[in-house]
Amino acid sequence: MKPVLLFLVSTAWTLTGAQYYYQGLMDYLENRLLAIEDRMQFWHEQTHRYHTELQDFKKLTAEAVDALSKEHNLLSKDLEGASFRVDRVEREMDYVETQTWPRACANKADKVLEQGAWGLEESRGEEEEEEEGEDWEEVKSRVSDCVEILSGIRSVKILKRVGSPKGMWTRDPRSSKVYVFNGTSGDNFYQFNSVRDFSSSPGVSSSRQIRLPSEFSGPGSAVYGGYLYYIQQEDETDMQVVRYDLMSGSVTDIAMFPVESHALVYGLNPETVADLAADNEGLWLLYAASDSEPNIHLAKMDPDTLDIEQIWDTRCPRENAEAAFVVCGTVYVVYNTRLASRSRVQCLFDVNDMIVSEEAPLLYFPRRYGAHASLKYNPEEKQLYAWDDGYQIIYRLTMKRKLLV
Ligand SMILES: *[C@@H]1O[C@H](CO)[C@@H](O)[C@H](O)[C@H]1NC(C)=O
Repeated sequence: MKPVLLFLVSTAWTLTGAQYYYQGLMDYLENRLLAIEDRMQFWHEQTHRYHTELQDFKKLTAEAVDALSKEHNLLSKDLEGASFRVDRVEREMDYVETQTWPRACANKADKVLEQGAWGLEESRGEEEEEEEGEDWEEVKSRVSDCVEILSGIRSVKILKRVGSPKGMWTRDPRSSKVYVFNGTSGDNFYQFNSVRDFSSSPGVSSSRQIRLPSEFSGPGSAVYGGYLYYIQQEDETDMQVVRYDLMSGSVTDIAMFPVESHALVYGLNPETVADLAADNEGLWLLYAASDSEPNIHLAKMDPDTLDIEQIWDTRCPRENAEAAFVVCGTVYVVYNTRLASRSRVQCLFDVNDMIVSEEAPLLYFPRRYGAHASLKYNPEEKQLYAWDDGYQIIYRLTMKRKLLV
């Protein structure tokens, strides 16, 4: 019976031990659970807080984005304004430049150039032969019957791009044929039947190529009434105007013109030896008389005989000149800067002395590719044929009547 008791006792003891053990475990687990619950509660609160914070943040960012886009709008508006202002400043600078230009915009022809021994002798000789007492004033008053002055550039048309950066193209106002001179020297050029033919031709394939008996120098040629007038230069000071019959293909006349030493007529276009313009009033020659003469000179020639009828100092400086053209007896000189910017008509000279300075227009050409290598005026269409960095461009012009008429 003793072992049985022992067993019972020991079992009871063990049971009590186990009971204690389980109680402890339960307590422990309960504590852990409580702790986990606490944690969960805490996390829950935390998440809630995060959520609210996130929402607040979202709201804030939305507001910020709103504000930013508003600011962006303002900025882009500011930028627009700025670019507008830059444009205006540019124009104002151009204007200031004009104001500080050493010469007046319109030069009066009051002082007909004392033509030096050369011109004077020629004219005296003629006068003596013809009539006595016919003085310069009378000659001057009938140089040009035209009463129009350039008032603006109405439109631009970029037709085509053929050939090298420099060259010349023009249209004979009489025959409406188009002539294209690629490059600034050579003995051949292209003839098209019309501007339409030229613009629709692939390259120069639909043209007739014409070969001259001598080389032309510079993009200063002119075509009028079936004749080509071009500059031929044998050496530095030996320059001639050649009259070439486009129908028969022969030279009909050659005349030298009065230069003492070689100089650039347009400071920015060294290839232009001299520049010819032809219209129904005659043949005009723009040239540099000598290296020491700072201004562009103008000679009026008889288009049939190439006789020089009159010579003027236009008092338009050669420096920074890019090109020039003659409208209605008025020379319009176009200036630019060495780094080609906006070309502008900044000096003009009226052989009739009928333009007063106040009405002299300061005309800007639209922004372009490079610089004008040549500008040829067509009096019938009132437009300019321009060669700009290989592009052939037409500028349509607007005119007004001269004030003093
Ligand atoms: C124009 O001249 C350039 C340079 O000499 C030459 O490369 C080009 O082929 C010529 N274009 C035409 C149409 O004659």
